[in-house]
Amino acid sequence: MTAPDRLVLRRPDDWHVHLRDGAMLKAVLPFTARQFGRAIVMPNLKPPVAATADAVAYRDRILAALPDGTSFTPLMTAYLTDGTDPADLARGFAEGVFTAAKLYPANATTNSAHGVTDIARIAPVLERMAEIGMPLLIHGEVTDGAVDIFDREAVFIDTILGPLLERHPTLRVVFEHATTAEAVAFVKTHAASGRIGATITAHHLLINRSHIFQGGIRPHLYCLPIAKREKHRVALVEAATSGEGPFFLGTDTAPHTVAAKETACGCAGCFTAANALELYAEAFEEAGALDRLEAFASLNGPRFYRLPVAEERVVLERRPSVTPDLVLVSEGDAVLPFRSGETLRWSFAGPA
Ligand code: DOR
Ligand code: ZN
Repeated sequence: MTAPDRLVLRRPDDWHVHLRDGAMLKAVLPFTARQFGRAIVMPNLKPPVAATADAVAYRDRILAALPDGTSFTPLMTAYLTDGTDPADLARGFAEGVFTAAKLYPANATTNSAHGVTDIARIAPVLERMAEIGMPLLIHGEVTDGAVDIFDREAVFIDTILGPLLERHPTLRVVFEHATTAEAVAFVKTHAASGRIGATITAHHLLINRSHIFQGGIRPHLYCLPIAKREKHRVALVEAATSGEGPFFLGTDTAPHTVAAKETACGCAGCFTAANALELYAEAFEEAGALDRLEAFASLNGPRFYRLPVAEERVVLERRPSVTPDLVLVSEGDAVLPFRSGETLRWSFAGPA
């Protein structure tokens, strides 16, 4: 079978995105809004988006930053802390402000200092979420410095996630940015329950840990969870291209300025919003699975979130596209996109 030169997909959604705030929001939002109809917006601002009122205000700032004429729906999330008020969270969910809540183990990643210090502390919050069907989105890494950075996801699954699902048998969970074969296996084992999903980033489909050190240290390929060995990348490609329901698109596009990345202690995050769909198309084509891209990008996510699939269609064409070298944020500040300056095989051509 020859691969197609044109793909028509229901408009995809990005189920994990960092839009930031202020000048950075203004600079990066147009990229996400151009390709995706909806996006799950991560709440790790400073200070975090923790209460319903914070999310209402942040959503307004996002909508105000949208280029004229763009139709894009930000789906807001609550940043869980040790002090999250279950009543406020439930009210935000009932009012349609919050779509889900995000669990950052304290200090696991960027702006997670206010995260949950011990999951036992938020048991009443999780019980309430299970009751009302509000999804829990999990950054699945243990924070114990004694655990090797490449093992933190697998250890989290064994010691925290497994017991958590047993304690809360009806809680709906998304394992965010899965990076290991262990995560894929865990999600598949629990798939029949319909209560677990997993997002997979484009960069974790395209790089393994060796790429981070290819010819020198590559700070723009450093993200959390960190890319793992090749066998894990292969497991992620297999999961994403399987078309199976629990696996869906979440870029985890996480912009930081060049200055914040290229320094003695660089920030974690890959900025993939500039050409997210082209990157995924590249990975799916390499796996001979372009026919499954729509399930992963446009169908499985809405099904998990109990939202309608998009009616609108978008087109990807087999036509080389060049990733921008830099995206300007403000005078003297820029973000360097993943695959900056490189040519990709596919181009996003807009609405069908
Ligand atoms: O690489 C990452 N960047 N991983 C995260 O979990 C957070 C994100 C960010 O906000 O920069
Ligand atoms: Zn993230």
